[in-house]
Amino acid sequence: MQELEVYSMIGTEGFTRLVAAFYRQVPEDDLLGPIYPATDLPGAEQRLRDFLIGRFGGPQTYIEQRGHPRLRARHSPFHINQAARDRWMRLMNSAFGEAALPAEAEQVLRKFFDGMSSFMINRVEP
Ligand code: HEM
Repeated sequence: MQELEVYSMIGTEGFTRLVAAFYRQVPEDDLLGPIYPATDLPGAEQRLRDFLIGRFGGPQTYIEQRGHPRLRARHSPFHINQAARDRWMRLMNSAFGEAALPAEAEQVLRKFFDGMSSFMINRVEP
């Protein structure tokens, strides 16, 4: 399955389900809770959702509204070490459990998140 086919398979609804299940866990998480903007979690949720929808073949709302993703630059203010990356992946893995997406789409997304989350690491010290 090609990355750009994921949106046609799961639609906005699928990405909404996955990202909502991820963000529901953030406030209570001892590592990621303090990193995310507590006053704008709905906005953060929408930005991640729009980014993923555009990245996997859907409408380019994210780029139209925020320009080039420049994800590493946008994450540079946040302390993302291996532990934070692994926790992000753990929350996303349990979000997959809740979202119950088609296996083909889930496989493509898991591979993307695995690589992209490592790419976001910007601190080497523990
Ligand atoms: C590795 C661990 C990660 C941590 C701790 C992290 C943390 C954050 C935080 C705190 C924000 C700001 C929330 C906001 O105001 O939008 C953010 C934004 C964002 N993150 Fe991550 N993130 C991680 C990985 C990723 C990955 C793997 C992706 C892509 C699949 C991603 C995509 C985004 C996007 C699209 C935004 C919004 C950027 C913007 O337009 O301002 N993040 N992230």
